[in-house]
Amino acid sequence: MDHAFVNWAEIDLDAIAFNVQAIRRQVGPGVEIMPAVKGNAYGHGAAPVSKAALQAGATRLAVHRAIEGGELRQAGIDAPVLVMGYTPPDGAPYIAQHDLTASLMTLEFAQALSAAVGAVGRTLPVHIKVDTGMSRYGLMPDEVLEFARALVKLPNLQLEGLFTHFATADSLDLTHVRRQLAVFNEVLSALHAAGIEIPLPHASNSAAIMRLPEARFKAVRPGIAFYGMPPSDDWTPTFEIHPALTLKSRVCRVRRLPVGAGVSYGRTFVTQRETVAALVPVGYGDGFHRILSNKAQVLIRGKRAPLIGRVCMDQFVVDATEIPGVELNDEVVLVGRQGSEQISAEEVARLAGTINYEVTTSLLPRVARLYLRGGKVVETTAIGE
Ligand SMILES: Cc1ncc(COP(=O)(O)O)c(C=O)c1O
Repeated sequence: MDHAFVNWAEIDLDAIAFNVQAIRRQVGPGVEIMPAVKGNAYGHGAAPVSKAALQAGATRLAVHRAIEGGELRQAGIDAPVLVMGYTPPDGAPYIAQHDLTASLMTLEFAQALSAAVGAVGRTLPVHIKVDTGMSRYGLMPDEVLEFARALVKLPNLQLEGLFTHFATADSLDLTHVRRQLAVFNEVLSALHAAGIEIPLPHASNSAAIMRLPEARFKAVRPGIAFYGMPPSDDWTPTFEIHPALTLKSRVCRVRRLPVGAGVSYGRTFVTQRETVAALVPVGYGDGFHRILSNKAQVLIRGKRAPLIGRVCMDQFVVDATEIPGVELNDEVVLVGRQGSEQISAEEVARLAGTINYEVTTSLLPRVARLYLRGGKVVETTAIGE
């Protein structure tokens, strides 16, 4: 690696393409793939990952907030971008200017958007979010018809989508998801009966793509599987996916500690033997959670080394006594593969008491992102570059 970074995430764009193609095989040709690239593409980097996804056969993108859509436009992406979350009425001009697809919930916003879209001289597609059992964002099922009737009368807007989100598609018990699906179908039927056709209904996240073929409708919204991570610890993905992200660093100090040496803040670890301590320049200021103190492991020279003492903002120490020849600048893998060993985001998540989603999404801008094709770096995004 000819760069000066002390830590970085390598994002394998071939894995992203592989996952899009795997999802395509699963859903068949008639269903649009709209990856969820919110949260900086679950920490992978929104623009490069979105471009790779579109090249591999995705046709749309989904973000949570309007500013995330604006970032994609700034990066030159012109595919349809759905803003799945709330936009306040004064955000309507931003949606119009950036040609984004808003998720509507209030008539006030719809009117503001209709006017803003008129002002820039175009029409915009819009989607309605319906809450079928997540108790989060969206209209209640019995509110949709009246809202849609009012919406279709507004100029400059075209009602394109109706969507919902499943609360338990990753659980072993799919009863609740089936109930949500039934409610969603009822809402679609009521709209149809009223003469309102929805060209693009969509519902499925990764877990539903894998397990509920009847919920595919006209588009799917894969997130976690698109990045190559399993949606649940309770069952195995129903098709092969490849993790795209590897989190790396390098050893920045090696020293021999005597018995009885306290390591890091609070001396929560005290050496019981003479210990080869290797310092790793990754901390919670990079998004590596402090709760991993005294718990996580890293890979150096293809072997596991346990973290000793507390994770600080910028660094932590590992016990490298069992790693012969460990030296300054050795590559450290925190998430991913090195030799025949692997540390998955799921393993780190279990130790941190969270889910794989949070492990990658937590990675902060200070961690450089290196994008790989055919094993070679094709793009880098880093502070100060
Ligand atoms: C509305 C919506 N759709 C799709 C997704 C993608 O879900 P997953 O990452 O489980 O595939 C999310 C993510 O939380 C979401 O909030």
